[in-house]
Parts: sequence; structure tokens; C-alpha cells
Amino acid sequence: MKHQTEQEYGDDPVAVRESDKYQQEYVHAFVDKWDELIDWEGRAKAEGEFFIEKLRELGIKKVLDVATGTGFHSVQLLKAGFEVTSVDGSPTMLAKAFDNARKHGHILRTIHADWRMLNRDVHDLYDAVICLGNSFTHLHNENDRRKALAEYYATLRHDGILILDQRNYDAILDHRIEPGHDFYYCGDEVKAAPEYVDESLARFKYEFADGATFHLNMYPLRKAYVERLMKEVGFQRVTTYGDFKETYRKSEPDFFVHVAEKKYIEGAIEE
Ligand SMILES: C[S@@+](CC[C@H](N)C(=O)[O-])C[C@H]1O[C@@H](n2cnc3c(N)ncnc32)[C@H](O)[C@@H]1O
Repeated sequence: MKHQTEQEYGDDPVAVRESDKYQQEYVHAFVDKWDELIDWEGRAKAEGEFFIEKLRELGIKKVLDVATGTGFHSVQLLKAGFEVTSVDGSPTMLAKAFDNARKHGHILRTIHADWRMLNRDVHDLYDAVICLGNSFTHLHNENDRRKALAEYYATLRHDGILILDQRNYDAILDHRIEPGHDFYYCGDEVKAAPEYVDESLARFKYEFADGATFHLNMYPLRKAYVERLMKEVGFQRVTTYGDFKETYRKSEPDFFVHVAEKKYIEGAIEE
């Protein structure tokens, strides 16, 4: 099979704002390169315990990783003893994740599904759904975001939780970060920075040491907006953390992590 190596955004790359685009953005060359350079051990040290501790604290056993990507979180959680099912809408990603997990001594239980139709392909209930690594940002319109959250909600047990992270787009949109800011999650060998930003697009450029360049067109999620959407689909309480590791810049986290609880709380959403 011939693998696609180049991304295609056409004549006007900033006009590309579709939720289905992720399927073509993660070309083999990008996926391979990413994993070559991101050192899993380093990433595990930086953030791993945060999620494992949070899940253990909440008594979680069965986890659905809806944004498996190359498998980093699925494998960390399997190693920590959780029961994990790994979902992604990109077959390229799932294949890579399966190989990676095998190298770490685990057989991934994978499901190929798009979040907007998740429960068509996922027929079980989970204690937790995780959507990590700034993945939710791939949805470019509100209907898709609401539908995906509703699908996550539906696959949770009555007292389940959703953990979803995102870049701190407020800081980017409101120009609160200095030029040359070091964006977390990219390792030392990858330079990542927004190339173009407006209220409905953040186009990031990823430059690798050998000169290879890739892009991702993402929707710049404001923190308060995500918290509101989560409550509107029925989550009762949303607790948001700033970064899970030491920040590059103390006052302005690079990432936010939302923990949304499904369990009914009387009077929770009255404010
Ligand atoms: C930025 S990657 C993150 C992967 C991984 N969680 C990590 O942190 O390394 C985002 C992932 O979300 C998947 N994705 C994006 N939109 C999706 C959708 N609508 N349905 C299912 N998967 C989707 C992509 O295929 C990709 O693997």
C-alpha cells in the first residue's frame, strides 16, 4: 500500500476548517516522525502520574481512550493496571498504536470510530473516557463538539468521568504569550508554533530537526467555552487544572485539563 507522505491544504490553507480533515492531516510521514522524536519516557515523567493518580483517586478501573493517537496514554494506563479500550478515527493512528503497544508488551483492544458516532461502534459502558493530547480541538463546528461530548457522556456509567485536555488557546488568542514561547508537548526536536490564528482557526506549524514541516488546522477552544459545553450536555461538575507538569511560564499554563463528572449533583448547574 502506498502511504501518503504529504499533507494537502490546497491554495488557501487557512480556509480549511472541517472536522473531517483530521483523517488526512495525520499522514504516515507525520505520525512516524512524531513518534520517532517524542520520547515516551520523558512524556510519561512529565504528565503520566497526573492522570494515573486522578483516575485511581476516583476509583476508576475501565477506561475508554477516545483519542488514542499513537497509543501513549493507552499504554501508560495498561501498564498501570487499568482496563483500557482504545478508539481513534484514523486507521493510520490505530495501526501505529497497536505496534507501539506490542513493543511495550501489550495487545491493544482497538475500536475504529469517529467521536460523533461513537456509540454506533462502542457498545459498552466505561468508568472514564479520556480525550487527551489536545485532540478535541480537531472539531471545527459546535454541532460536532456537542455531539462528540454527548457521545462520550452516553458511554459513561452513571457516575463516570470525562478527562479532556486542551491547549491554552485563550493565551494565544488574547496575545498573552511571548514570541518564541516554547509550546509544551513537542519534545526538544520539534518546534511547534501557531502560524495563523483567528477566533475559529489556530493553524500550527511543526518543524522537525531535519527540516520536515507539517501543519494542523485546529479550532481554538476557549477554556470557559469548553466548560460551558460540558455542563450543557449534562456533566454536573467540571474541575479544570492548569498544566500537569512544571510550566514553562509559571503564570500561564500551556494546557488545561478538564475533569467532568456525570454523577448527579443536586443544584449543580444553577449558576
Ligand atoms: C493530537 S492527536 C493526540 C493523540 C494522543 N492522545 C496523544 O496525546 O499523543 C489527536 C487524535 O485524535 C484523533 N481524532 C481527531 N478527530 C477525531 C474524531 N472526530 N473522531 C475520532 N478520532 C479523532 C486523530 O486521529 C488523532 O489520533
